[in-house]
Amino acid sequence: MKLILDCDPGLDDAVAILVAARYADLIGVTTVAGNVGINRTTRNALVVAQMAGLDVPIHRGAARPLAGAAVDGSRIHGETGLGNAVLPDLTRSEASDDAVAYICDTARSVDDLHLLAIGPLTNVALALQRDPDLRRHLAGLTIMGGGAHIGNITPVAEFNIRADPEAAAVVFEKAAPVTMVGLDVTNKVVFGDSDIARIRAGGTPATGLAASVVEYLLDRFREYLGHSTVPVHDATAVTAATHPHLFERSRHPVAVELRGELTRGMTVADLRPAALARALDQPSAPVSNVVWRTDVDAVRELILEAVLTF
Ligand code: RIB
Ligand code: CA
Repeated sequence: MKLILDCDPGLDDAVAILVAARYADLIGVTTVAGNVGINRTTRNALVVAQMAGLDVPIHRGAARPLAGAAVDGSRIHGETGLGNAVLPDLTRSEASDDAVAYICDTARSVDDLHLLAIGPLTNVALALQRDPDLRRHLAGLTIMGGGAHIGNITPVAEFNIRADPEAAAVVFEKAAPVTMVGLDVTNKVVFGDSDIARIRAGGTPATGLAASVVEYLLDRFREYLGHSTVPVHDATAVTAATHPHLFERSRHPVAVELRGELTRGMTVADLRPAALARALDQPSAPVSNVVWRTDVDAVRELILEAVLTF
């Protein structure tokens, strides 16, 4: 599968880049502000590609959300966005500073292209505003984000959606069907100390980086929650795009709450029978593919094996 990965590295984004390069024809990476600012997410994407020896163009994207204040993920991802990883001097440079143009131009020129967004949806929303027919030119659009009435950055909102709710609303409305790989499924694919040791035993710069970022993420979960395992959300989302047969999903209208004081950034999935909304003369949001569960052991192994090929 030909893939553009839109990301905000970000600890789990770093692992996701490796998994995407292993299982997809990763033709491009675009960056967006999210976990940390755009300068750092772009630098981090470049350094991951450099350390893994990936020959993939990296295009800088949006520096701020469509509306509202930027959120910050550094409490989880560290000031650099890659935890306390020791990073080499950068020898790579960005292919452009216009991720939106790259997404739109590539979608129109490359057949069977999939777009996988694992950060805030700002770039995707701007691409839709630039080319309203974008979705017709994509073979698939998958996001790591949201969830059916589950949250992490708030009780009901997931970070990527809450980081730019207006962008997410545009994407769910104008780019249906979206495959939503949300916390419902990504929370279930977790990694612990033995996995980190297995990755570190790879003994390469890339496996050293991957072990460092997963260990840093796990340390935050230990510190804040007392957990002994940690989800690597974005890497799971990559396997949902590259190995869809491993994932269970169902189709439901999904809309994004923008105004709720407690619920802004919530992906509101209508799980009722469609007939009920019709019977009540209620409008229905565009339908998305909501991903619920997977073969956890198989996905864990796919991710670990992918990382260990670098
Ligand atoms: O909620 C998980 C998402 O938020 C992931 O994309 C992670 O990188 C963080 O940005
Ligand atoms: Ca991310």
